[in-house]
Amino acid sequence: MHSYMIEGGQPLNGHVRIGGSKNASLAVLSAAMAIDGPCVIENLPAISDIEILLEIFSDIGATVEYIRPGAVRIDARTINTHEVLHDRVTELRGSYYLLGALLGRFGKVALRMPGGCDFGVRPIDLHLKGFQALGAKTEVAHGIVSCQAEELTGGGVFLDTVSVGATVNIMLAAVKAKGKTVIDNAAREPHIVDVANFLNAMGADVRGAGTDVIRINGRPTLPANQEYTVIPDQIEAGTYMMLAPLTGGDITVEGVIPKHMEPLSAKLMEMGVTVEEGEDSIRCYLKEGSKLKATSFKTMPYPGFPTDLQPQATVLLCVAEGTGRMIENVWENRFQYVDALRMMGANIITSGRLAVVQGNSHLTGSRITARDLRAGAAMVMAGLAAKETTEVLDINRIERGYEYFVDKLTRLGAKIERVES
Ligand code: UD1
Repeated sequence: MHSYMIEGGQPLNGHVRIGGSKNASLAVLSAAMAIDGPCVIENLPAISDIEILLEIFSDIGATVEYIRPGAVRIDARTINTHEVLHDRVTELRGSYYLLGALLGRFGKVALRMPGGCDFGVRPIDLHLKGFQALGAKTEVAHGIVSCQAEELTGGGVFLDTVSVGATVNIMLAAVKAKGKTVIDNAAREPHIVDVANFLNAMGADVRGAGTDVIRINGRPTLPANQEYTVIPDQIEAGTYMMLAPLTGGDITVEGVIPKHMEPLSAKLMEMGVTVEEGEDSIRCYLKEGSKLKATSFKTMPYPGFPTDLQPQATVLLCVAEGTGRMIENVWENRFQYVDALRMMGANIITSGRLAVVQGNSHLTGSRITARDLRAGAAMVMAGLAAKETTEVLDINRIERGYEYFVDKLTRLGAKIERVES
């Protein structure tokens, strides 16, 4: 087991290059499992979730070859089973995309129930409702989800909750279904658009991604044979953007799409942070004499404030002036990490989906646990802002989603080491 040892109190300064989006990569790689020829996918982040997914692909017979760091050539024509029963399926959420991709490919699929971060019940009823609308029968038994269709046919699906996973999964099944599928109240996250762009580049006909109505005209085969570059990671970028005002530093994130960062940039400006957008970079810092001010956040589906930046923003509220509020609208139980912040001296009251954060806290080093991926990143942030030494345990959860975390932080001036705990 490894942990991070952090000597806090250093202002972080400099430039950091952002990797490919974890959630877009998981979806685009899975989409490659639905197509009928080789393709190259680039800008994959160097994180364990991607390694595990590729291991699962190889296990079912797909041809997967790293052609250089961050780029793989994939050929799904060699897949020899519709059953995905590998133990590691339960280690990540993104494995659920194999449901849609293999259902589209074979007309049937059986998948071990996917895992992922624990922040409340994580149902897949909307995914299944979508597959049913395309003519599939679905069943969950003994921890395995099975879907089967005589013939997948296009249909209309209304998502009563905006779901990223269900939107992608239904798209993946529908690109090969016979006829037209319409997804109403679809999620609009940048990675939804990324998957649609990938599928279209491979020969699919997906329209409207990025709006709440997506129309898909099914095609019998998707010829592929193209290269595709995944979008940059909004959440990794957002974490570094918040580290600048948190530590009193000056950080420029590079290789980002500033438009994707607007929900965070707007909030940071409200808090008194100077946010300077370049073409593919954003610089964040507090001007001399400016103070970080508390504000209220509400997490919402895109273009609202992302739930995956909620724990990190809560840490920022701990050191801001005044009382801030964080309302978590997406997940029912995403404040489990707050206890660890309290141990460090934070003054936070939670009630259901609301956290009230009394600012001006002087955080102090402690031994804390990464409860999940983004909460783990928030613990590292708290450690970097705190006096003295913080040890963050269970960092494998953080390394699921932050590439070269220690290296990138060290280059910005952080004192952080990965040690055997
Ligand atoms: C994805 C992200 C996750 C992020 C979340 C919200 C991946 C691998 N994970 O998760 O990091 O926090 O989007 O931006 O991309 N819901 C249902 N029924 C369903 C599916 C979802 O009720 O069948 C509800 C969930 O309980 C939740 C809400 O819909 O309240 C949003 O979930 P969803 O967007 O599906 O999240 P994921 O795709 O699992």
